[in-house]
This record gives sequence, C-alpha cells and structure tokens, in this order.
Amino acid sequence: MSKVSVMLDADAISKRITEIAAEITADFQGKEFVALCVLSGSFVFAADLLRHIDNDRAQVAFIRAKSYLGTQSTGNVQISGYDGGFERKNILIIEDIVDTGRTLRALRDEVLSRNPESLKIAVLLDKPDRRITDIKADYTCFEIEDKFVVGYGLDWNEKYRTLPYIGCVE
Ligand code: IMP
Ligand code: MG
Repeated sequence: MSKVSVMLDADAISKRITEIAAEITADFQGKEFVALCVLSGSFVFAADLLRHIDNDRAQVAFIRAKSYLGTQSTGNVQISGYDGGFERKNILIIEDIVDTGRTLRALRDEVLSRNPESLKIAVLLDKPDRRITDIKADYTCFEIEDKFVVGYGLDWNEKYRTLPYIGCVE
C-alpha cells in the first residue's frame, strides 16, 4: 500500500458537515425531499450528513455513477441502479467530489429529464482546477487543490474508502 498523507482530518470534516447540514435543514424546512446518494464514493459523507439534517420527511435513495479507471477519468459516465421516480419530488444529490464536472452534469441531466419538483446538489469536495462544465453545487464542504484524494468514502482502485480522514496518496 502507498503512503497516505492527511489533508482533512476527521474533526475538520465533522465540523464542516455540521455546518452544511444546518444550511440544508433550514433550506428544506417543512419540505419532503429525497436524498439521492451517489454510489459508491458518497456513502460515508451521505451517512454523516443525513444524520445531522433535521427533517422527519427526508427519504433516502441511491444511484450509481461510474467513470473512473484507477486515477484516470474515462470521460464516459455510466449511470445505473435507480429504479424509483423523481417526478414532482425535491431531490438532493449527495456526491463525494466534483472534478471535471462530467459526472455531476450527467446526474443532473438524468434527474432533470424526469421532471423533479426541484434539484439541489451537495458535495463533500470541489476540485475547481479541471472543471470543463458549468455545473455548480449548492452546498460544498471543502474546495481543494488538484490532487488525487482518498478516504472517507473515496477510493483509489477501490481501496482506501474506509479511512476516517481525507488524504493524498504519495
Ligand atoms: P468528474 O466527473 O471529473 O467531476 O469526476 C467526478 C468523479 O470522479 C467523482 O464522483 C469521483 O468518483 C471521481 N474522482 C474525481 N476526483 C477524485 C479523487 O481525487 N479521488 C477519488 N475519486 C475521484
Ligand atoms: Mg463518484
């Protein structure tokens, strides 16, 4: 295994998630919504974020998006695994990281094509340097420099997802 250096430790992540969850709680007050968690990378973030959002009408669903081989984005986003409806629902996409923006753009277009009531996007990490789309998240926990990061759900070839912090592979 390669060495991983800590970029964001568990305390920093937890503190920021509490802040973002408070914003989402306020914005969705009195509203029913579906938290659409993007597998696999967002599973840890989504679990922590959702447990801090105070809304007894929140529902949870999952969708899968895949574009990576190792540390290289293939540019071809495959979306699968969601069998419910988005029609007339308030959707909150929960994604791990936005880099070029291709994945989020594909997810956004997929959801919008099914006539939701509203769509918001929450991301744990934003790497703006390589963006090639106009996609913008409504809630961003951290903006980071253009480094390949792992941990807290994010992988490198399916490894490191279980680290409790976010780090760079050296
Ligand atoms: P994009 O389509 O280029 O914006 O890439 C977004 C997707 O690529 C994310 O959903 C992640 O799964 C993956 N990804 C991008 N950067 C990283 C990284 O630094 N570490 C792990 N996965 C990443
Ligand atoms: Mg992903």
